[in-house]
Amino acid sequence: MNLHDSEKIAGVLEGKGYLATADNTKADVIVFNTCCIRHTAERKALGNILAYKQYKAINPKLILAVVGCMSQQPEVNKLLSESYPFVDIVLGTGNLDAFSKAIDAKTLENRRTAWRRLDEKPIIDEGYPLARTSGANAWLDITYGCDNFCSYCIVPHVRGRERSRDADIIVAEASTLIEQGYKEITLLGQNVNSYYHNGIDFACLLERVAELDGDFRLRFLTSHPKDFSKKVVKVIADNEKISNYIHLPVQAGSNKVLADMNRRYTREHYLSLLKMIRDSIPKAGITTDIMVGFPGEDDKDFQDTLDLVRQARFSSAFTFKYSRRKGTDADKMKEQVPEEVKKARIRELISLQNQITLELSQDYIGQTVRVLVEDKSNRAKDTLCGREDTGRLVNFEDVGNKVGDFCNVIVTHTKASSLWGRVASE
Ligand code: 5AD
Ligand code: SF4
Repeated sequence: MNLHDSEKIAGVLEGKGYLATADNTKADVIVFNTCCIRHTAERKALGNILAYKQYKAINPKLILAVVGCMSQQPEVNKLLSESYPFVDIVLGTGNLDAFSKAIDAKTLENRRTAWRRLDEKPIIDEGYPLARTSGANAWLDITYGCDNFCSYCIVPHVRGRERSRDADIIVAEASTLIEQGYKEITLLGQNVNSYYHNGIDFACLLERVAELDGDFRLRFLTSHPKDFSKKVVKVIADNEKISNYIHLPVQAGSNKVLADMNRRYTREHYLSLLKMIRDSIPKAGITTDIMVGFPGEDDKDFQDTLDLVRQARFSSAFTFKYSRRKGTDADKMKEQVPEEVKKARIRELISLQNQITLELSQDYIGQTVRVLVEDKSNRAKDTLCGREDTGRLVNFEDVGNKVGDFCNVIVTHTKASSLWGRVASE
């Protein structure tokens, strides 16, 4: 989502005649698009911003901007304004109009007034040009913000209430992207399953985009288990163009922890959802997000998470140590878990998931998978890479396939989660 937000910011700058440069000393504008989901992201961003002060000495005209989730927090806005005087623009999320005006402003004072509270007016930025950087894939927003308030999460506090975009606008944009030659469209939202606009829910929207003409693959991110409906599963199962890749964050395997996280489902519900998906879509590749060390998580709770991971057999998992975020309910909980315990738990979790990923990789050997060619592989010479339908990275010998083409690859061997193979002759 942040990468896509950066494409919008770059679009605004391109519209004003700016060109991208890889040379910081030549830049007239440098924008930090920040994330604050965990403390480390915030710490790294603040360190990086400080390191960029030097470019102002080289180019006094340089405009330094800090935008996105981190700077949406009022206390970080204050910190940047007071302790980072060399930063010209401090702006929150989803506010392209204010960004555009701040770039045009002539004085530092005018630039600095751009930041605003999220509750002033929910913002839907429509009609801005995008500078896409994602190769054959195009991201397409369907919702902004989040209403779920998982107790650990800062996103609803920095991205505001959930707003769904008009389905007609989304479908028209998808159609244009296909005409422009994009081969993969990823619908984006914090919880795509709760999309709703003028009587159209997520299943209807997915179906409408999938029905567009053209050879393309349709994906979506991210799904919330409490809202993932049978109707959506049916639409995926019935539509060839919809990828069988489903990212379904579980977060924890203990019902006590799930309740404290305010996730509003149980492990039993989650496991029965997986069964329902796999019964209808046998090839589904399901990935997840899991957190360890949530306040009050004891050893039994952690064992429940390991047990769920054993049963779920995820293709892969993004694993995180719980990080305290100011303003969230979990930050106020008393039983914070010590760092060493979090470290030991995440090690054990990663090792279990790696073993499962490796086992599942073996099943691909000898299979033919359809790959969207993305790039030259950085793993080996004369090799291309791309993703198959369930999101696995596939490396294969370069026999002249072009980036953005689909091709069939016979999997010959695997390394951890990546697959390796050769192009099948037609
Ligand atoms: N600490 C650690 N991980 C977090 N996530 C969200 N908030 C936190 C936090 N405070 C993780 C969740 C989410 C993913 C995007 O980031 O697992 O699904
Ligand atoms: Fe955060 Fe929960 Fe919303 Fe995801 S669904 S963005 S974890 S509050």
